[in-house]
Amino acid sequence: MTEPSFTTPTIGVFDSGFGGLTVLRALIARAPQARYAFIGDTARLPYGSKSRRTIARYAAQSARFLVEEQGADYLVIACNTASALALEDIKEAVPSVPVIGVIEPGAEAAHRASKTRDVLVIATDATVHSHAYAAACQTHGLRALEKACPLLVPLVEEGWVTPSILNEPVAAPVQPQAAVTAEVVRIYLDELTTQAASQGMKPDTLVLGCTHYPLLKPVIERVLPPGFTIIDSAESSADKLVMHLSRDLGAPPKPTPEDPILRFFATDSVEKFERLGSRFLGRPVINVQLVDLGG
Ligand code: DGL
Repeated sequence: MTEPSFTTPTIGVFDSGFGGLTVLRALIARAPQARYAFIGDTARLPYGSKSRRTIARYAAQSARFLVEEQGADYLVIACNTASALALEDIKEAVPSVPVIGVIEPGAEAAHRASKTRDVLVIATDATVHSHAYAAACQTHGLRALEKACPLLVPLVEEGWVTPSILNEPVAAPVQPQAAVTAEVVRIYLDELTTQAASQGMKPDTLVLGCTHYPLLKPVIERVLPPGFTIIDSAESSADKLVMHLSRDLGAPPKPTPEDPILRFFATDSVEKFERLGSRFLGRPVINVQLVDLGG
C-alpha cells in the first residue's frame, strides 16, 4: 500500500444502487472536507440475487473506475452484498488503496450494543447465504440469526418509503405505497423474531445488513419489540474511515462551512438517480454522469 501524498483525500464510495448514499451521508457528516466520488451500479442492480462470481466481477469494475479514473485514495464498499461476497476480489483489483467494507464495522457495532449476545441480521439473499455476518459476529462472541428480505431493496429503490424518511414534512400524508412497505417489513420481522424465539434466542440487537435498509429505519423501529438497538453499518463504517483518515493525515477531519466536493456516477438512468438520490442523501444529487463499466 502506498503512503498517502494528499491533504484533501478523495474517497471513492460504491454501491449497486443508491442505498449506499446512506453511507455517503454518514461519511460527509464526519469528514465534510474530503472529496467524494460515488458510483451506483444501477444498471446491474440488484446484486443481492446474483452469484458470487458475478458480484465480484461487477464490484471489481466499479472499484477500478473509482481508483484508476477518479483518483480515489480510499474505497468504501457501501454495499453489504459486495462486502460479504467480494471484499477480497475488490482488494486485489485495487491493491494501492485501503478498502473498507461494511460487514466487520457492523459486527463490531453489534458487539458493542448487545447485552444478550444474540443478534438478528436482515440482508439480501446473497449476503445471508454467504453467512458473512454470522461469521463476523461469531468472532465477537455473538450468536446471529440472519434473514433474507429480498422485497425490501426494490421497494426502497422505488421510493416507497415514508415521507419522514425522505426528509419531507412529517405532516405529509402517508402514501399507500409506504403502507405496503411497512406491512412487508412487519411480516419479515415477525417471521425473524418468531424463529429466534423458537431457537431459544433472546435477541436485543438488529443489524441492518443492507445499505438500503436505513431508509426503512422508522418503520423497523415501530415494528420491533421495545428495547431493541438497531445497528446501521453506514454509521460504523464511516467511523472506521475516519480512523483511517486520522491515522494517515495525523489529525481528525475538521468540519468546514464549505459544501463537500461530490461527484456522482451511475450506470443507468441519471434522471432517476438525481430524483431519488437527492431525497436519500438529504442534499442535492446533481450532475450525475452516466458511465459504462462494460459487461
Ligand atoms: N445495497 C446492497 C447491499 O447493501 C443491496 C442492493 C442489491 O441487492 O444490489 O447489500
